[in-house]
Amino acid sequence: MNQVNKTYKVQKPLSKISVAPMLDWTNKHCRAFHRLISPNTLLYTEMVTTGALIHGDWKRYLRYNQEQHPIALQLGGSDPQDLATCSKMAEDHGYDEINLNCGCPSDRVQKGQFGAVLMESPDLVARCIESMCNATTLPITVKCRIGIDKQDSFAFLDKFISTSKQAGCAHYIIHARKAWLNGLSPKENRTVPPINYERAAEIKAKHPELSITINGEIKTTEQAIEHLKIFDSVMIGREAYKNPYILNEVETKIFKTPEKQCLSRIEIAHAMIPYIEKQMHDFGTPAKSITRHIMGLFQEQRGARKWRQTLSTLPYEESITPAQIIEKALTELTATIASC
Ligand SMILES: Cc1cc2nc3c(=O)[nH]c(=O)nc-3n(C[C@H](O)[C@H](O)[C@H](O)COP(=O)(O)O)c2cc1C
Repeated sequence: MNQVNKTYKVQKPLSKISVAPMLDWTNKHCRAFHRLISPNTLLYTEMVTTGALIHGDWKRYLRYNQEQHPIALQLGGSDPQDLATCSKMAEDHGYDEINLNCGCPSDRVQKGQFGAVLMESPDLVARCIESMCNATTLPITVKCRIGIDKQDSFAFLDKFISTSKQAGCAHYIIHARKAWLNGLSPKENRTVPPINYERAAEIKAKHPELSITINGEIKTTEQAIEHLKIFDSVMIGREAYKNPYILNEVETKIFKTPEKQCLSRIEIAHAMIPYIEKQMHDFGTPAKSITRHIMGLFQEQRGARKWRQTLSTLPYEESITPAQIIEKALTELTATIASC
């Protein structure tokens, strides 16, 4: 493999905290909502395959509103030329980072020869990185596991990282558990293999010049603060979706944004009204496609169930407006609190 001609890019993560790429979850509506809660968190798109961008409705896949910066596009693919083409598209669309998915174990992704199977082919990953780095000046990052199947030694992960870093990747996001490529569903692959943060810490110790983002089972701001003593940044996945207001705590405790500059849960609910109206008007998006992402806003608060229940039914009613949906859901929530 040819060495990249550019000087080695030492690259800080774009933010100390990020929200993970999550297929079907972190689409542009979810990201718009997360951004209202936390202005400083880095937001990742869902994985978009190179095939979808090159042969599909690329405008739809790449679209996002400008408030979502900093924003990273996650690509799924393993053809160096296709990845270069898509990296250029991402740059042209103003993305701030491009991430290569080397961690998804789903059957569909394995059939496409990308995702976690790429951990077995560090030379191919290096060619992909090199090609992407040559196509754009944006940071190219890799999201991987700590191993796959029985290949779960430090040496295996170290070889993967050492090889691809030579091609120009200076920032790895490590989901600190291995993936089983056969026998487990993607969901089980996010719970069954044990978490091993130490393995990721060993990589950081061996490659201190690399930025390492730690990911996996991080559910509280306190845990994130602990991880930041070792790692350069923390990626939060499921907790940010199920309990999105954790991003408010991240904003105040980690980014030190004064509480009064942050929006309350109720202010966020109200701020979603014009967003939903605009998406309905501009793209004909049904309200329910957006409200499904805000179900967790009152998680762990009194009335949370009522909020979710109202949002699960109201948006299905004909000719109801976004303002009516949100106001009614808030009224129901408040009434539940009052009756407790
Ligand atoms: C619904 C769902 C979809 C996911 N889709 C992707 C994806 O598109 N790309 C990816 O790299 N990881 C994906 N993941 C994995 C997450 O990015 C993250 O690595 C994993 O959930 C572990 O972090 P957590 O314990 O904080 O949730 C997905 C996870 C979930 C729950």
